[in-house]
Amino acid sequence: MKDALLEGRNISKYFGGLQAIDDVSFAIRKGEIFSVIGPNGAGKTTLFNLITAFLPPTSGEILLKGKIISGLKPYKVARMSVARTFQLTTLFEKNTVLENLMMGQTATREMGIWQALFGGRRKSEMETKTLERAHQLAEFLGLDKEKNTQAGLLPQRAQKQLSIGLAYAASPELLLLDEPAGGVNNEEVDILIDLITRIRDAGVTICLIEHKMSLVMNISDRILALNFGKKLAEGTPAEVCRNEEVIKSYLGDEYAAAC
Ligand SMILES: Nc1ncnc2c1ncn2[C@@H]1O[C@H](COP(=O)(O)OP(=O)(O)OP(=O)(O)O)[C@@H](O)[C@H]1O
Ligand SMILES: [Mg+2]
Repeated sequence: MKDALLEGRNISKYFGGLQAIDDVSFAIRKGEIFSVIGPNGAGKTTLFNLITAFLPPTSGEILLKGKIISGLKPYKVARMSVARTFQLTTLFEKNTVLENLMMGQTATREMGIWQALFGGRRKSEMETKTLERAHQLAEFLGLDKEKNTQAGLLPQRAQKQLSIGLAYAASPELLLLDEPAGGVNNEEVDILIDLITRIRDAGVTICLIEHKMSLVMNISDRILALNFGKKLAEGTPAEVCRNEEVIKSYLGDEYAAAC
């Protein structure tokens, strides 16, 4: 596809005899919110692990801006501006919100070993900038009041906001969110919808896995539906909602009738 930021071509992934991804092709366009849906065990997280090179595909290719990235090391893919969150929220629990947001920034990670060891003016300049941006990020995330709270002590919804922020702090072009609303109650989902939309509006392409259909159908430009590792459909929310196989294996008749 011409305007694809990320493309999967005939990807398969076996774990021993289990085929977790079965000949799946898809394309994520620059600037869109692209969601991956499907029942438990459908292969959604595995797809993220393949995209971020945490796992190699058994066959097929993944391309970022037309360049093959399957086979690279995860840190190389991360340096190509791909960031992710994990299904189980991973934060620096003992550190404050601000410290988490400092650690998430590329500037900190890219500081050379000699600079980190011997410091100097450049190091303190970088630290000042990193701290400044951490303050801005906390505000952007709606975590202004919690800046100095230990991450592990935040309520679930705020932890989800922070884990999105931690990945966003790396200034990615493509942000992969694995169940950003997992464990968050329905009244609080709107806060996450607003945050994800604002990240997209800031120019970041988003790919998200989510079981909460209120979130998925509300914000997605396009959706990929998987079942037992196979692609069932790829299209707009309206198209995917009408797809017989998606209704049968995942959405159910009741939901499909309402959408
Ligand atoms: N590292 C692994 N080794 C062996 N099997 C795995 C591994 N990772 C995933 N699987 C299996 O691959 C299949 C797809 O799992 P995956 O975690 O991708 O599903 P999912 O769609 O993310 O499900 P959920 O909605 O429950 O998170 C499952 O049968 C799972 O048990
Ligand atoms: Mg999963």
